[in-house]
Amino acid sequence: MTMLDWAANEAGLSPEAGDATGLGAIDREGARVSVDQKRMINCRADVNQLLPLKYRWAWEKYLSGCNNHWMPTEISMQADIALWQSKEGLSDDERRSVKRNLGFFAASESLVANNIVLAIYRHLTNPECRQYLLRQAFEEAVHTHTFQYIVDSLGLDEGELFNMYREVPSITDKAAWALKYTQSLSDPDFKTGTPETDRAFLRDLIAFYVVFEGMWFYTGFAQILSLGRRGKMVGIAEQYQYILRDESIHLNFGIDVINQIRFENPGLWTEAFEAEIRTMLEEAALLEVAYARDTMPRGFLGLNAELCEQYMHVIANRRCAQLGLQPLFPEAENPFPWMSETMDLKKEKNFFETRVIEYQTGGSLSWD
Ligand SMILES: [Fe+2]
Ligand SMILES: [Fe+2]
Repeated sequence: MTMLDWAANEAGLSPEAGDATGLGAIDREGARVSVDQKRMINCRADVNQLLPLKYRWAWEKYLSGCNNHWMPTEISMQADIALWQSKEGLSDDERRSVKRNLGFFAASESLVANNIVLAIYRHLTNPECRQYLLRQAFEEAVHTHTFQYIVDSLGLDEGELFNMYREVPSITDKAAWALKYTQSLSDPDFKTGTPETDRAFLRDLIAFYVVFEGMWFYTGFAQILSLGRRGKMVGIAEQYQYILRDESIHLNFGIDVINQIRFENPGLWTEAFEAEIRTMLEEAALLEVAYARDTMPRGFLGLNAELCEQYMHVIANRRCAQLGLQPLFPEAENPFPWMSETMDLKKEKNFFETRVIEYQTGGSLSWD
């Protein structure tokens, strides 16, 4: 028994658990970590040694996240406040849709953050991925801050908004579906290291990165950006563009993590598991359709439940392709082609460049 194993036993941990967290006793005799010892999950190499980097994509995403820094309070809410207070500015249907959209996001940002911090972080045994998770966790805090700022600016009922995930059934159904997957991981006795628990970890990554951030958030963005294109709630629409830019990196990080775990553990991705993943994405699309009908029972200019359903199918197909799966809805056609332009941030350079450059020049480092 090594000192590390002994210390872990003393602490009531298995040696694996000690190693996975990075909080185990220090192995004074251990060799330095080499790149080929690094693995995404179930790694026994020291997780406190960021260098040498193995997964450069994770490090690049960390740098991109930092370069994209923004704060919601930089965006003026004056036009939104005037429109929200005017009698004719928005129809009742538009108001209902905006409020439910905000209510969905307000709690979802928090659910996603909790999943990263309390479920994913301790099982992802790679320091460069953990570095990214720390950055992502902060970005989720900025997103939650955005909803606090919107509620405050528009004078919305904070209790109504932040309780929608409990009180509006079509929102509760989505949150409850995802929570199933994080609940199994957040059990203190849960450990990866068996095919069953490794698959449970993959299911959680798919539920949160692919479904929550990669599917449901995208229909949410489309709803608000569609209003923004018609000159309505332009402050919120601008905030959503910043959130969308962050979320597209979160999503792509999650996809890379899932595919890398699959590559390193080929036995996990059986035909039965793949069928299970397809069912998860199908269920997620159905939940989104129910939410769209509830949120937009009549629809309004440029937006209705049918268009959101079509868009959900297009997005689900894209996520299937990123996971190497056949499309779930082969007939789907994109009803919001303008969303691709919004997402292709290279085309939006002027929109984003000013603030990004301000942060990159780091003027605020002068303290006197
Ligand atoms: Fe977020
Ligand atoms: Fe996110």
